Amino acid sequence: MKILESIAAVRAFVAQARRADRRVALVPTMGALHAGHLALMTAAQTHAAVVVTSIFVNPTQFAAGEDLAQYPRDREGDLAKARSAGCAAVFLPSVEAMYPAGAQTRVSVPGLAAGLCGASRPTHFTGVATIVLKLLNIVGPDVAVFGEKDYQQLAVIRRMVRDLDVPVQIVGHPIVREPDGLAMSSRNVYLSVEQRRDALSLGAALDAVEAAWGAGLRDSEGLIGEARARIRGGTIDYVEVRDADDLVVVEGPATGDMVVALAVRYGTTRLIDNRRLRA
Ligand code: PAF
Repeated sequence: MKILESIAAVRAFVAQARRADRRVALVPTMGALHAGHLALMTAAQTHAAVVVTSIFVNPTQFAAGEDLAQYPRDREGDLAKARSAGCAAVFLPSVEAMYPAGAQTRVSVPGLAAGLCGASRPTHFTGVATIVLKLLNIVGPDVAVFGEKDYQQLAVIRRMVRDLDVPVQIVGHPIVREPDGLAMSSRNVYLSVEQRRDALSLGAALDAVEAAWGAGLRDSEGLIGEARARIRGGTIDYVEVRDADDLVVVEGPATGDMVVALAVRYGTTRLIDNRRLRA
């Protein structure tokens, strides 16, 4: 597995893969790799012979006071995991390489980035869209794979790629859960034993919504109530039912494809989870 630390090195690596007529997949990450990330890398191999994973804790998607400085970093552990997951290369750029002095351009997808996580993190998705577009421009993959746990992020990225005619296929990968149902996240390591126990209620809340939906409940307030009633501990940031595609708020009867999305704070750790509800 190649370790690539400069933009020029990535471009040379991908050019070589292209000369060998190989498809290239990109799995963008911020490191602290867990089984959820490794599942993205494995899935990427079903789309392309060459999988490049990027590891970059992107400062522009963190607001002042968020956990940029504390975000878990484990370069050697991450490299070992990416290697074991079959990645052909890992791109590990520096902040200076990605945001050279004087860089000003930002990419925003204002409609999809508003509300849900965007309500409490108003600059977050501009940071995400900017870095993802930069990574797509640097690597030039045929396909890029993202987890569906970050449902709003995936919607923002899909729309950005569509709006800006970026020649890449975006693939969403189903949420990967711990055996007890907690959605995998690099931030789970921040949880105390009690918080982690309470956080199991998020998956249970979504199970309850899905069961109610299966039993015929269509009223979005009713579905939200099913979830809220089961969330334990923490402070609920939001529980919402949205259109699965354009994330428009669903009020009253929910018809068509929906997503129920939630965010809950346990101490300083904010967890998100979601479930698709298909008509
Ligand atoms: O989901 C993440 O880990 C990040 O938001 C991403 C897509 C790698 C952009 O920094």
